[in-house]
Amino acid sequence: MNQNLDGSFPARGVSAIAPKEDGGFPNPGLPPHVHRQADIDPKAEKRAERIVAAMFGISVIGTAIFIASYFVVTPTGTNLFAETGSTSALWWSNLITGLGLAIAVFFIGAAAVHWAKTLMPDEEMVEERHELKGSEETRAAAVGILTEGIQEAGIGRRPLIVTSMVAALVALPIAILAPLSTLGPLPGNKLHHTFWRAGMRLARDHDGTPIRAADVAMNSIFHVMPEELTHETPHYLEERAKAATVIVRIDPALGQNEESLANGYEGILAFSKICTHVGCPVALYEQQTHHMLCPCHQSTFDVTDGAKVIFGPAHRPLPQLPIEVDAEGYLVATGDFPEPIGPSFWEMYKEK
Ligand code: FES
Repeated sequence: MNQNLDGSFPARGVSAIAPKEDGGFPNPGLPPHVHRQADIDPKAEKRAERIVAAMFGISVIGTAIFIASYFVVTPTGTNLFAETGSTSALWWSNLITGLGLAIAVFFIGAAAVHWAKTLMPDEEMVEERHELKGSEETRAAAVGILTEGIQEAGIGRRPLIVTSMVAALVALPIAILAPLSTLGPLPGNKLHHTFWRAGMRLARDHDGTPIRAADVAMNSIFHVMPEELTHETPHYLEERAKAATVIVRIDPALGQNEESLANGYEGILAFSKICTHVGCPVALYEQQTHHMLCPCHQSTFDVTDGAKVIFGPAHRPLPQLPIEVDAEGYLVATGDFPEPIGPSFWEMYKEK
């Protein structure tokens, strides 16, 4: 326990470090060193030694299990526990080799830690901390060297050089702005609109044939594009990338989102195929759960609830394309997506 300045011990709950008369604090020193059992009891030392040796021994056994299992518990060759070539054989092979390696590695670490904590030299060292500040003479000498350097360089006598130097240093960062002018035109409202317009038929992606509502079977999924979007369309690839849409048909009774159902046609719902996380194509559909899944980072969207995000890093639902059928029974858009498709951006809702 630390002592007070007068040599007495502080009462319980009272700070042991009383301020010195000059306002500083005395060096509190180190608490008394507590010896480990193995340092003072030879039996405990022996016991610790045996424990460390036993752990290294278990590690050797783990290594032996790993090596042996590599030859006698194999997935496609000899397997003591399961039929060769079966899934079970693979499972046993992975289990035993993994366990053997885990035991070998774990017990080497455990033995090393136990050895260090019980038997390695137990000394407390104090590293003295020196003042970082230089002496008054050293500091005065440094200031003298600087002043001398400035005088020798004649900076004060050459205002022309100083002025031009300042101009050069200010001008240089401006040069960094120049490349910004070559970044091309600003996107304008292109991020807010796609090629879809009212009355455009939904056509199968690639073969371009329009789709009748009657062709869309329950729980099926189609990848669609606007029928008018062709290779002759200006900026064809950009337009394709933005207009990519999937349609699925669900039982309207399962729909939990009135607005979403109203924007579809008899359970046929059309959503942007571009993930609202960072723009991968959302192309996987689970028929049983009615979830659409983005394969990139597993964002999952619930089709029965307006493609709301139920899992993953995406933050907003897939925008829904409003659709209906025309006089011939073909599915047509009744307008563009109501909000920008794909990853979100700062001014996304500005047009609203
Ligand atoms: S791009 Fe779809 S989850 Fe990341």
